[in-house]
Amino acid sequence: MCGIVGYIGYREAVPVLIKGLEHLEYRGYDSAGVAFITQKTGHIHVIKQKGKLARLKEDLRDVHLTSSVGIGHTRWATHGQPSRANAHPHMDMAGQIALVHNGIIENYAALKKELQHQGMTFQSETDTEVAANLIGSYYRKGCLVEALQKAVKRLEGFFAFAVIAKEEPDKLVVFKRSNPLVIGIGRGENFVASDAPAIMPYTNRVVYLEDDEFAILTRQNVQIFSLKTGKRVKRKPTTIHWSIAQAAKGGYPHFMLKEIFEQPRVVEMILKTRLRKGKIIFEKLDSKIAERLKHTQRIHFVSCGTAYHAGLVGSYMLGECLRVPVTTTVSSEFRYGDPTVGKHDLVILITQSGETADTLAAMREAKNKGALTLAIVNVVGSTIAREADWVIYTYAGPEIGVASTKAYLAQLATLALFSIFMAQIHPKGKIGHTKIHSLLRDLSKLPLQITETLKLETKINACAKDLYSKRTFLYLGRGYNYPTALEGALKLKEITYAHAHGYPAGEMKHGPIALIDKNQPVICICPRTSHTYEKMLSNIEEIRARKGIVLSVATRGDHAVQKLSRYTFFITKTEEMFSAVLAAIPIQLFAYKVASLNGRDVDQPRNLAKSVTVE
Ligand code: G6P
Repeated sequence: MCGIVGYIGYREAVPVLIKGLEHLEYRGYDSAGVAFITQKTGHIHVIKQKGKLARLKEDLRDVHLTSSVGIGHTRWATHGQPSRANAHPHMDMAGQIALVHNGIIENYAALKKELQHQGMTFQSETDTEVAANLIGSYYRKGCLVEALQKAVKRLEGFFAFAVIAKEEPDKLVVFKRSNPLVIGIGRGENFVASDAPAIMPYTNRVVYLEDDEFAILTRQNVQIFSLKTGKRVKRKPTTIHWSIAQAAKGGYPHFMLKEIFEQPRVVEMILKTRLRKGKIIFEKLDSKIAERLKHTQRIHFVSCGTAYHAGLVGSYMLGECLRVPVTTTVSSEFRYGDPTVGKHDLVILITQSGETADTLAAMREAKNKGALTLAIVNVVGSTIAREADWVIYTYAGPEIGVASTKAYLAQLATLALFSIFMAQIHPKGKIGHTKIHSLLRDLSKLPLQITETLKLETKINACAKDLYSKRTFLYLGRGYNYPTALEGALKLKEITYAHAHGYPAGEMKHGPIALIDKNQPVICICPRTSHTYEKMLSNIEEIRARKGIVLSVATRGDHAVQKLSRYTFFITKTEEMFSAVLAAIPIQLFAYKVASLNGRDVDQPRNLAKSVTVE
């Protein structure tokens, strides 16, 4: 996500901030900026720019101001397009304070209205500027800490802040709720950052802030306080022994593994943002689009790669929620297939990057033919997000590993919410209140269940050690987990270069069964809640009868499947609709482990690109 850096000390602040931001570049960003208090005038200067740090550095070249306290930020857009106005830092209207922020303030719209009533005006579309003005509205000279305390008590969501005030040039104040902040302890200087690599060129002695703690940094001192009790918190610094490169990966050997482990938080964030008091919320849904959604007669999912598999899962979800025909097509087939779509069709483009050439062309084709286009996108402000009639962002944060993991889970969680939402608003909704209630209840349990599923790592490692030298793998699933089989095979071939094939298990007898012998690993996705569970069980028996090596993904406690498998990866029981979310975890981990044991370049596999912007 976004990156925060803050500095107070004896050095020139701006170069320290820029160097820190450079060490956070790997996280991905679309704009950057710094704010600092100048020694000469005592004013806060803000310099920010859309695009890469190189552009910001160009703007800074002609600025000859000295400062020893400042904050910096790289922004990954969530509220509002990437632009100079939306870039951080943001100041309050009176120019008293400057703020950088990571995260999302959920109640920003209501607070913005309140502040507008007080006569405040806003320069950006961001939730951050609302927070800056809220802090500003409470600010009295010398009381930055109190103003921040009052403000955060009114904010809902996930956020980390770093703030400076014009009248208090010897202080940097920070606060954390859910989003990480690490304080770097120096001599005569102190640092703060969202991620350790930003401060590691200067110090490896750090203190991690806990949730709902704020800290006051001066040149000589760091004091931490609890928001709830107001009391001082004593915490000893720890020493980081990693290199900067290792720290960027949060201690994980690869970004892919880090991103797999970020999935509980990603899904939690989506649910917290989109699900409030049992109500599903999508921003930018105006009445015209809502009207067209209600009159949708057919729905088409169009996407590529992993996003295509998300579309397949989405088609099962919508199929369960609505009595409306749903199709799923890869973008390259859709764009050249003269698709029969018109004004009563909804075309849903799913794309992590929002820039995939075939998906973009497919969207333009659908729009030309009068269909309503909805983009489910991760990268805010990307071309597809801008051009679609309506966009739902997936909030997965930047994904660095080429093989998509957390973006996929974010797509599935978003599609689940969208499907239930459609059941609520569409006259052909198939499910009633009780079912919706039970789906939403199970949906909200997913973050914890994903965390639980990640504990399979050790077991999957042992299994990968047994099988990593195999050159061909077969994946089978039915219904919701047919796409999981496709995704499992795609992940494995992308990063291990072994051949892998995903198949609907019902088709096994029509071909793949010929492959099965004692050397053939077959990964069977077989959750107990699936209405085709018994059929899957028969498939497993058939593989066993031919001495195939069965690896299964099954519901915890399912000893029938366990008995038939060499390895069983248990997932928690959940609604059939969400089984594909949990089942994705072991297949991601398995591909990752096999690839690492084969010494592959996991994050940048050969011949593949993260964003395919050409045909
Ligand atoms: C490439 C990436 C995949 C991704 C696909 C679609 O093949 O390597 O990880 O699933 O493009 O990309 P999109 O950005 O449209 O989701």
